[in-house]
Formats: sequence, structure tokens, C-alpha cells
Amino acid sequence: MSTSKLYISYIRKNIIMSNFKKKILITGGAGFIGSHLLRWMVGQHTDTLFVNFDQLTYAGNLANLTDIENSSNYHFIKGDICNPHLVNWLFDKYRFDGVIHLAAESHVDRSITNPMSFIQTNIVGTVTLLNAAKHAWKDDFAGKIFYHVSTDEVYGSLGAEGFFTEETSYDPRSPYSASKASSDHLVRAYHHTYGLPIKISNCSNNYGSYQFPEKLIPLFINNIRNNKPLPVYGDGTNVRDWLWVVDHAKAIDKIYREGAIGETYNIGGWNEWTNIDLIHLMCQQMDKKLKRQKGTSAKLITYVTDRAGHDHRYAIDANKLNNDLNWKPSITFEEGLDKTIDWYLANEKWMNQITSGDYQKYYDKQYEQR
Ligand code: NAD
Ligand code: DAU
Repeated sequence: MSTSKLYISYIRKNIIMSNFKKKILITGGAGFIGSHLLRWMVGQHTDTLFVNFDQLTYAGNLANLTDIENSSNYHFIKGDICNPHLVNWLFDKYRFDGVIHLAAESHVDRSITNPMSFIQTNIVGTVTLLNAAKHAWKDDFAGKIFYHVSTDEVYGSLGAEGFFTEETSYDPRSPYSASKASSDHLVRAYHHTYGLPIKISNCSNNYGSYQFPEKLIPLFINNIRNNKPLPVYGDGTNVRDWLWVVDHAKAIDKIYREGAIGETYNIGGWNEWTNIDLIHLMCQQMDKKLKRQKGTSAKLITYVTDRAGHDHRYAIDANKLNNDLNWKPSITFEEGLDKTIDWYLANEKWMNQITSGDYQKYYDKQYEQR
């Protein structure tokens, strides 16, 4: 069976390609950030067809996209970015003008227990896409863009002072961040060696709706709701710089359209919190929303064994993005966290569907030894 026949079964819509001025491949669009990016871009750019290519791993969820699934400029195809036949077939069929690559294994704790899936998806998958883009666009790179979405974790860990800039040397310290750093290097190598037109952004911690509850904020909201312990790694003094996911999506759209080829942009919230201060803020907001007595949720805080190699502090200097492209976060953290908690409380069904499956096995294994 030919590759096209094999995978054509995933296509549910009859797309008339001549209706669109541009066609963009979004990888990992069923995940947390990818689904927000698609929601934003599909609504903003109706002359562009967005093809969401996602393997639907444990982290991918089409329920994140129900509000845009019937949009005429949105199309979903299930598949693995590590499969060169399928990826080449996609480029051949859709003649993409650009790629925004988000598909990845994204959770640091999982990379500590199972590094190989991170090497496979984050490194081999990225090279598979780079090869396909290079091959498909070989006759003419003009107007094409390969945009790689990366993380601030590639820069390593900061002490009490300083920020990550675009010039900070790479110093990844977890299998996750090392795999993302490798993918960044490969994307730059394809630019320098073959002239592939690339852009990269490195963003700080995102929060918001539709985030898989293995990450700090949705996991703790869910545990507070269910009166379960809140497992704080180490002494809780690690610092993260939090950005509302919708602001990340808008930054990606801006960089895709206005950023310079070959450039890297750091994206951050100017919003540093120690984990323990953030957790206390969440507990206070949850007490109010759940009409619990003040201090009730904080009693769930439980200090547990630290994450292996736990990076101490991340903080982004986002001045380049602000100065060159006039981007800045649109809401304060208190507002964003408030909206986020409201969303999870109003969408229990979404959360329950996730937490009722294999999630419980992951949770028990992840937290039982701590
Ligand atoms: P996520 O884990 O929520 O989603 C990842 C998506 O990729 C899922 O839909 C999954 O099904 C898909 N995927 C995984 N392996 C695949 C494969 N082999 N082929 C096709 N699809 C596959 O991740 P996220 O938090 O939305 O992060 C998206 C991107 O942004 C990642 O590249 C991540 O490194 C980067 N990033 C995340 C953050 C953050 O705070 N979450 C911050 C900065 C950068
Ligand atoms: O900085 C960007 C990165 O942010 C992204 O590249 C990653 O994909 C994303 O997962 C995130 O990585 P972190 O490791 O910072 O996020 P996480 O939500 O896993 O943890 C945030 C902090 O909270 C971190 O210091 C570890 C701590 N933590 C986390 C969990 C899940 C706890 O104390 N307890 C927990 O149960």
C-alpha cells in the first residue's frame, strides 16, 4: 500500500487547497501550547490552512481543540514526526509554506525515568522534519520558514542573579533539556549548512487551560480540588518565570510573521516565583473559590524528595522580543492564575477524562518513591 493510501484514512475533511494563500504545518498541535497556538492562528489568519500533525501521545488530546475542529482552515492528521515516509508525504501533498514545530516529549520528570523517548521524538523527530523541509523546498527557500519552538531550559540553571539572554551559552542539565538543546543545534546547523530559513524561540514556563496535569499548576489545582497532598520537590525555593500560554501563542505568531530569518528570540513573563510562594498563592485562591476556610488548602503541602538534578532558577530576558517586535505579556500573573483556576474548576470533565486513564499509574509510580 502506498504511503498516501495508508494515511489518507486520517483525513476527514475535503480541503480545497486553492482556497488558501498559505499552508502551515503545526506539529504537536493537540498538546497544551500547540492547541492554544492553533486556536489563536486559525482565528487570526483565515486565508491560511493550518495542518495539525500530532501523534496523540498521552499528552495529545483532541478535546483541546473542539472549538476549532470544524473551522474550514483547520485540518488534523495523526502521525509520528519520526516517520520519514509520512512526513515527506505530508510535505508533498500540502506544499507547505512554513512549519511551526512544537511536537515533543515535554515533561522533565518523565525524561529522568525514560530518556530514550525524548531522544527519539525531540532529536530524531526534529531532524526528520528538517530533512523533509529541506527536500521539499530545495528548489526555492524564498518565503519559506521552519520555526522551532524551544525552551529556556537549554540555558541551564541560574543563581540568585542574572537572566538568560539569546547569547547565554547552552548548559542543559536534564535529559529533556539536553534533547531540546540538541534539536536547537540541529535546526541552526541546517540554517548554516544548507541555508534552510529557520527561526527559534526559547520560552519560560507556560501556564493556562488545557495543560496536562503532570505539570505543577494543573496537578496542584487538581490535587487541591480532591484534597490530595501537594508534593513540593526539595525545599520549594526553586524559581520559575511564568507566562500565560495565550501570550506565548501570540509571541509565536508574531515571530513567525515578523521575526528575522536565522534569529533566536527569548520569550518570558518577567514573572519570577519561588515554587512555594506560587503554591501558597494557588492555595489562597482555591480556598476562596471552593469556599473553604482560609488556610485549608495549604495544609495539603507536603515536602517530598527533590527532583534529580533540579535546576534552581530560570529567568528570561525578553528585551529583544520587546524591542524588535514590540511584544510583551498582556496580563498579570494574578489575573492569569485566577482565569486558569476558574477554567480547571469549570472543566472537571476534561480533567476527569485524563486522570481516569493511565494517568493514575503514572502518578502512583512518579510519587510513590518520594
Ligand atoms: P505537550 O507535552 O503538552 O504536547 C506535546 C504534543 O506533541 C502532544 O500533543 C503530543 O501528542 C505531540 N507529540 C509527541 N510526540 C510526537 C511525535 N513523535 N509525533 C507527533 N506528535 C508528537 O507539550 P507543550 O507543553 O505543549 O510544549 C510544546 C512545545 O513547547 C515543546 O516543544 C516544548 O519543549 C516547548 N516548550 C514548552 C514550555 C512549557 O512550559 N510547557 C515552555 C517552553 C517551551
Ligand atoms: O521552562 C520551560 C519548561 O517548563 C518547559 O520546557 C517544560 O516543557 C515544562 O514542563 C516546564 O518545565 P519545569 O520542570 O519547570 O515544569 P514543572 O511544571 O514540571 O515544574 C515546575 C517546578 O515545580 C519545578 O521547579 C519542579 C516543581 N514541582 C513540579 C511538580 C510536577 C514540584 O515541586 N512538584 C511537582 O509535583
